[in-house]
Amino acid sequence: MLIKSPSRHTLTEAQTTPESAYVSRRQVIAGLGAGIGGLLLARNSYGLDLFGSDTPKAAPRKPLDFAPQKPAPALTLTPEAKVMNHNNFYEFGTGKTDPAENSQGLKTEPWTLTVEGEVEKPATVDVWKLMSEIGLEERIYRMRCVEAWSMVIPWVGFELGKFLTRFAPTSRAKYVAFQTLYDPEQMPGQRNRYVGGGVDYPYVEGLRMDEAMHPLTILSVGLYGKTLPPQNGAPIRLVVPWKYGFKGIKSIVKIRLVEKMPPTSWNKMLPQEYGFYANVNPAVDHPRWSQASERFIGPGGLFAVKRQDTLPFNGYGEEVASLYSGMDLKKFY
Ligand code: MTE
Repeated sequence: MLIKSPSRHTLTEAQTTPESAYVSRRQVIAGLGAGIGGLLLARNSYGLDLFGSDTPKAAPRKPLDFAPQKPAPALTLTPEAKVMNHNNFYEFGTGKTDPAENSQGLKTEPWTLTVEGEVEKPATVDVWKLMSEIGLEERIYRMRCVEAWSMVIPWVGFELGKFLTRFAPTSRAKYVAFQTLYDPEQMPGQRNRYVGGGVDYPYVEGLRMDEAMHPLTILSVGLYGKTLPPQNGAPIRLVVPWKYGFKGIKSIVKIRLVEKMPPTSWNKMLPQEYGFYANVNPAVDHPRWSQASERFIGPGGLFAVKRQDTLPFNGYGEEVASLYSGMDLKKFY
């Protein structure tokens, strides 16, 4: 058992990547705008080896131009192939490899995102245009799924808060509601409730306004230096690193600022198991399993997973615990 509690960006010794490896990776990322050369470098650097994820079947991904994270946290990255082949995206099936297998035909271009509700300037934006003009940055985050596995993923994206400010939220905006694409023709899980795990589609999620405005909260458009694969939520998805993974709604088409707490998909389906807040909390067990530890999916063989302690707020307590001061986190799970 781990006795010394790791600091914010540190995992166990064995999981720490030497800084030199980070620097060279980030230099590769920085060079990515360079077209096919950059693309080949990235492939070599990240080693798409284990699962052969970039098969001809895979939807093409474009290199992104972005600012590398400084300083890069000392975390061991989950290999790209594993990030792309161990997913939850019930619109494409409930098995972990279903999304990678069934989503490659998702039409992600063109894609629009509508921001509406309690804003002075509602608008619909072209997501691909947004990607090229907004100024993207890298965010290497630990991610924790409610199913007690974790990954460390180098996302590319931008702060949700800065983006929302463009639409001039009104003083009545207390929550942010997100919605995934509803398109049963493209998403088999929306056509068939057995394929789609019984979720009431479209998938919806929500954040409190202060959570949405927190600088750690991003809209991601890429990972490992390239645009998102469909199975990870292309072309745009939410990433909130101190919350369980189900808050990270994928393939978003609508963001609505609202006065009242919005419904969320998993809470609607199983309210005893999934709350609105969903902050990573080792002290609050899922009714069917413990959340005290997690399996880190890192480098190594297919089944080389490592058990480690779950950290409060997934290790981001220093930054976000104050958002919940005075709240009973056992009640507001
Ligand atoms: N978004 C949509 N639209 N549909 C989903 O089924 N699954 C959620 C979340 N976002 C889901 C979704 C869950 S349960 C998790 S753990 C994360 O996506 C997984 O993200 P990843 O596959 O990129 O790791």
